[in-house]
Amino acid sequence: DEVLRGKLVCLRDIPLYKSFVEGWPQVEAFQARHDDLLIATYPKSGTTWLSEILDAIYNDGNVEKCRRDAIYNRVPFLEFNAPAIPSGVELLEKTPSPRLVKTHLPVHLLPASFQEKDCKVIYMARNAKDVVVSYYYFYQMAKIHPDPGTLSEFLQAFMDGKVPVASIPTPASPQDPRREVQKILQFLGKEVAEERVAKILHHTSFQEMKKNPTANYETMPTALMDHSLSPFMRKGISGDWKNHFTVAQNEHFDHHYQQHMAGSDLCFQMEA
Ligand code: PPS
Repeated sequence: DEVLRGKLVCLRDIPLYKSFVEGWPQVEAFQARHDDLLIATYPKSGTTWLSEILDAIYNDGNVEKCRRDAIYNRVPFLEFNAPAIPSGVELLEKTPSPRLVKTHLPVHLLPASFQEKDCKVIYMARNAKDVVVSYYYFYQMAKIHPDPGTLSEFLQAFMDGKVPVASIPTPASPQDPRREVQKILQFLGKEVAEERVAKILHHTSFQEMKKNPTANYETMPTALMDHSLSPFMRKGISGDWKNHFTVAQNEHFDHHYQQHMAGSDLCFQMEA
């Protein structure tokens, strides 16, 4: 199988990186704490953006404090495991509470302790067509992935659920960052002064994050991520799929989506 070549293996029907599966016993036994906040997303849905916003909120809008370390250390990636760098679980064990935890795991693979400890979860979704384009470029720059082939081949692999973490449930409309930050503050029961919110919005804008080495993943070893192939902070827009999909691919995608999501209350209309 071209897409599963060598580096992806299945964990309970979900394609994952081999090294993540090797670290799975640690993940399964992970001890969540009651004040952990889980940031749950399908890959390439804006995880890093939301993580930066939440770290800024946790620092009461003192955005300079967000520059203390790289985003992947400030908001450890739970299931991450690769040779020669600390795993997500190792990082999390050393992180003082309250912790922000990043995951791409589908809910049935989440360590049981998140539910036992009744942890808060923020789930974020992005238009699946933009996700697949972003993912295609990420496959090229993040070396943990097999060769994605052509966009057309990758699109098919995505629809077949052969990319980590299989299928995507919820496309979403473009969001207003200010409104979303207010919603998050309300959910967390936190108050942040208006001028601090403005600072957070500026600090987490695409242009600012793209040039911020503690947010843009440029400090990752090049053996893992090669930004010369495609920067992690690539375009940061919605609708880039329109520059990549052919009319036929778009129709095929819509058809596939309708078929798989019909009857589900997660079936959304994607912006045209
Ligand atoms: S990962 O690897 O799954 O954690 O990637 P993730 O962070 O979820 O998604 C990366 C895409 O998010 C874009 N991005 C942003 N867009 C707008 N504003 C801000 N601040 C921002 N930060 C990251 C990033 O550019 C990737 O999308 P594409 O479409 O490839 O540009």
